[in-house]
Amino acid sequence: MSDGATRLVVGSDHAAVSLRQAIVAHLRERGLQAAEIGPAPGERCDYPDHAATVARSVASGEFDLGLLVCGTGIGMSIAANKIPGIRAALVHDPFTAQMAAMHNDANVLCLGGRLLAEAYALDLVDHWLDTEFEERHGARLAKITSLESEA
Ligand code: RB5
Repeated sequence: MSDGATRLVVGSDHAAVSLRQAIVAHLRERGLQAAEIGPAPGERCDYPDHAATVARSVASGEFDLGLLVCGTGIGMSIAANKIPGIRAALVHDPFTAQMAAMHNDANVLCLGGRLLAEAYALDLVDHWLDTEFEERHGARLAKITSLESEA
């Protein structure tokens, strides 16, 4: 689901600064474009603020894909999914990372920085980026999109 033209944005709160930095470096090593938002090391913040910035910038088309990391990934996923057009998936293992792309066309990947070893987290990022969406699931995504008009 990515190539050299894919624009990614990576955000975190204070609980996952080092994982955010590692993800950005990893994406750039892969030849992808990666922007970074979030606190500097030692600085505290509220995760919904950065979730909203990343989610809005993906929903608007400024970026193609987003990654959000906090302590558990839970808060980031809850917040990002409030933004219309966002399908944020919290994943914990290679299978859910692949399924998030293949079945859900997740445009934001969420990870828990306090749960995952760095190398394992980067492997999950690769599983997500290297998996294609299966168009046969498109009608289900349309049903998810239609739920946004209930808000
Ligand atoms: C911050 O302490 C923590 O609550 C946050 O990183 C995240 O885990 C929230 O879901």
